[in-house]
Amino acid sequence: RKPITLHRLREMHAAGERITMLTCYDATFARVLDEAGVECLLVGDSLGMVLQGRPSTLPVSLDEVAYHTECVARGNRSAWLIADMPFGCYQESKEQALRSAVRLMRAGAQMVKIEGGGWTPETVRFLVDRGVPVCAHLGLTPQSVHALGGYRIQGRDEDGAATLRRHAAELADAGAAMLVLELIPSTLASEVTRALPQLMTIGIGAGPECAGQVLVLQDMLGLTRGKLPRFVRNFMQGAGSIDEAIRTYVQDVKNGRFPDPQLHGY
Ligand code: KIV
Ligand code: NA
Repeated sequence: RKPITLHRLREMHAAGERITMLTCYDATFARVLDEAGVECLLVGDSLGMVLQGRPSTLPVSLDEVAYHTECVARGNRSAWLIADMPFGCYQESKEQALRSAVRLMRAGAQMVKIEGGGWTPETVRFLVDRGVPVCAHLGLTPQSVHALGGYRIQGRDEDGAATLRRHAAELADAGAAMLVLELIPSTLASEVTRALPQLMTIGIGAGPECAGQVLVLQDMLGLTRGKLPRFVRNFMQGAGSIDEAIRTYVQDVKNGRFPDPQLHGY
């Protein structure tokens, strides 16, 4: 496969082909996911929970994300590589955000992801103008878990939905190329996706009508213990290998079999 570029992702999106993304934190899985045809690898700050056993993403440092980004970059051949900007490394100022983004780009990231709306478009514009592609993230933004009062669905009431629509439009105007929509009603995600065709929406617990989908790798491989959110599907069920599970995820996102509106939507 030829290297996935932002241009290629936009072509896919324009042609109505769904974009597949999974989290990835190491070289071995980077190679596996890349070979299975996953277009985007996300070095998520979910590594705080998945790899470090922490209760939230809040303690994850820029050094740690940079380290895992280097590991993934070494294993990856052609996938588009996105790194999360961890809590505290971009909120202070747009200059601080650029310094942190530069660190992650040097580690091999091709795009950085920042959480939140309202105050973020200024930062997004600053980064995009300086050559850093940006993925935004709205809905349930785990770095704000204490402010949000837990891991709960967002944008359910009309006020919340209107705010999310406005924040998404502002981020699109600021030049964000992608937008992760986490744990929001499927109808709201669908509206945002249709209203802002310049923004590739990537859903996680946001229904089947986003431009693409993302899951946490260890969740979709059935490795995560404890209560999982409803939007997760265990792709190892019925698969003979990890490679087959990943290929099934790619196929099922592409042909609209995942997520299922009833089983995985809100
Ligand atoms: O950190 C992460 O894994 C994420 C995805 C769930 C979108 O931000
Ligand atoms: Na994250």
